[in-house]
Amino acid sequence: MEIIILLVALLDGCSSRALAAIHNSAYASNQEFESLSPSSNCDVAALGEALCDKRIEVVEEKLKGVATLVSQNKQLCEFQIKALRESGEQQKQICEHRIKEANQQISNAQKSAKTRTNEHQIGAAVSGKLSALYPGSRYYVSTEKFNWYVARKFCISNGMQLASFESKAESEALTPVLVKAGGFFWLSGTDLGSEGKFYWDNGTGKDVKDFTNWRAKQPDNYQGKEHCIHEQPGYGWNDIPCENQEKFLCEINDS
Ligand SMILES: *[C@@H]1O[C@H](CO)[C@@H](O)[C@H](O)[C@H]1NC(C)=O
Repeated sequence: MEIIILLVALLDGCSSRALAAIHNSAYASNQEFESLSPSSNCDVAALGEALCDKRIEVVEEKLKGVATLVSQNKQLCEFQIKALRESGEQQKQICEHRIKEANQQISNAQKSAKTRTNEHQIGAAVSGKLSALYPGSRYYVSTEKFNWYVARKFCISNGMQLASFESKAESEALTPVLVKAGGFFWLSGTDLGSEGKFYWDNGTGKDVKDFTNWRAKQPDNYQGKEHCIHEQPGYGWNDIPCENQEKFLCEINDS
């Protein structure tokens, strides 16, 4: 039945647009076509076109629905990405914080291990007799008298060095204690090996130059025999023969 109508419409020479519309509506059910009750061939074409428009409308409506869904999904997706990014950022911060804490613990452990090593090396002869007389160092003020070489060895074998006075402040901090203890004290300064060129023989070998505290007319290398520095508390430094028996001052850096 429909095929005949279609053929008639075709032969009748209706516009190709109308024909296309009829072609599109070829998928309509029989009932739909019958309810249209065509009165002429071109009416059929017009009805076909109307039906087609209706179908396009439905499809467009569906497309709108899909577009809305896509946009909703897009928003949901963006929200999830944002949430992920934020939680990633949080994780990163937590992670960085943990790394920082761990590094702090490592550095603390290293410091305390270093302190323990130093404590361990300080022999029984001096441990418990050290005084923190100036920030960053502790000192052993000897009661024994040795020549400079033996005094130096004594300090080293107890994990320390003969003291070096790096600044006026350090020297002044030590003075009252040394005055009270009485006597003169070997420091690590010497010009053994190169006359007139004093250096701190405390492991660093730094030149004695940033701070000096020589007494007037010293060093004089009297009789060509004076190569070691001793401290005369309250007066300053003098160079005297390294073989002399003197008290001495050991120092250990805490930093
Ligand atoms: C050695 O003496 C120098 C100069 O005073 C000082 O900078 C350094 O801390 C001293 N080192 C030790 C181990 O006493």
